[in-house]
Amino acid sequence: MKKQSVNRVVLIGTGAVGCSYAYSFINQGIAEELVLIDVDEKRAEGEAMDLNHGIPFAPSPVNVWSGSYKDCSVADLVVITAGVAQKPGETRLDLATKNTEIFKGIIKQVMDSGFDGIFLIATNPVDILTYVTWKESGIPKERVIGSGTTLDSARFRYLLGQYFQIDSRNVHAVIIGEHGDTELPVWSRTNIGVDSIESLLARNPDFKQQDLDDLFINVRDAAYQIIERKGATYYGIGMSLVRITNAILRNENSILPVSVHLDGQFGHTGVFVGVPAVINRSGIREVMEIALNKKEKEQFDHSVKVLKETMASVL
Ligand code: 2OP
Repeated sequence: MKKQSVNRVVLIGTGAVGCSYAYSFINQGIAEELVLIDVDEKRAEGEAMDLNHGIPFAPSPVNVWSGSYKDCSVADLVVITAGVAQKPGETRLDLATKNTEIFKGIIKQVMDSGFDGIFLIATNPVDILTYVTWKESGIPKERVIGSGTTLDSARFRYLLGQYFQIDSRNVHAVIIGEHGDTELPVWSRTNIGVDSIESLLARNPDFKQQDLDDLFINVRDAAYQIIERKGATYYGIGMSLVRITNAILRNENSILPVSVHLDGQFGHTGVFVGVPAVINRSGIREVMEIALNKKEKEQFDHSVKVLKETMASVL
């Protein structure tokens, strides 16, 4: 229950992803309070000090401190980035068992504080851990959101923008399914500005379907490519989380491909998976059940099947 007039966000996990989120958060001035929690308390303290020294240059004041789970009691949003990360060669699903155990401990402590806000989850495998958060917390499904395929869709839009030489903000394109190896592009709904991909390909022989197929592979495998080069990914996911935070705290009714609970939409139930959803101050206002073509539907069904099999093996 909200007990104060300012917006408070609690970030659990001050590793590279959490801190990229915090840095982007204060630079966009999206809420008045940001609390940092980490198992390594000294680390959280140091990060809060460092971030606070940038506040004079921020667009609006943000009160940042390293806190405890008690601070979740009046939080509007709890963002979780804590857990073990992928090492080179590991898939996101390889992390399921370990991070599920870590999450059970975290969620219990958040709920013991009396928290009654919205959860935003980023830890991998994000679809599985969003489900774990929902189950363990008892918070209504509308208020449990995973970052899902928001980052993958941003990667997709960026690369399409590069290919067609159009501002990526004018690229309307979405990746759905698992945030991981079985995700898929919804080509049938992809538009560059007001033009469909089909009409662009038909009009200009320089643009080729094969290039687009390769482009998607680069989206799907982006995390592997980055982890191989620099050991981890964090700026992209940090900014994706801030984008979702804005949609929530500013009551934007924005459409973003996040991990949400399906209740019959797309023919599935009892699973959290990345699909477009309308997000506002109440969390998920609605899941957008876009029409998929036959191939997309088959790929989506396969992605859900893989997620359900993973859930069955760890829960
Ligand atoms: C990413 O896609 C590893 O899930 C993380 O960047």
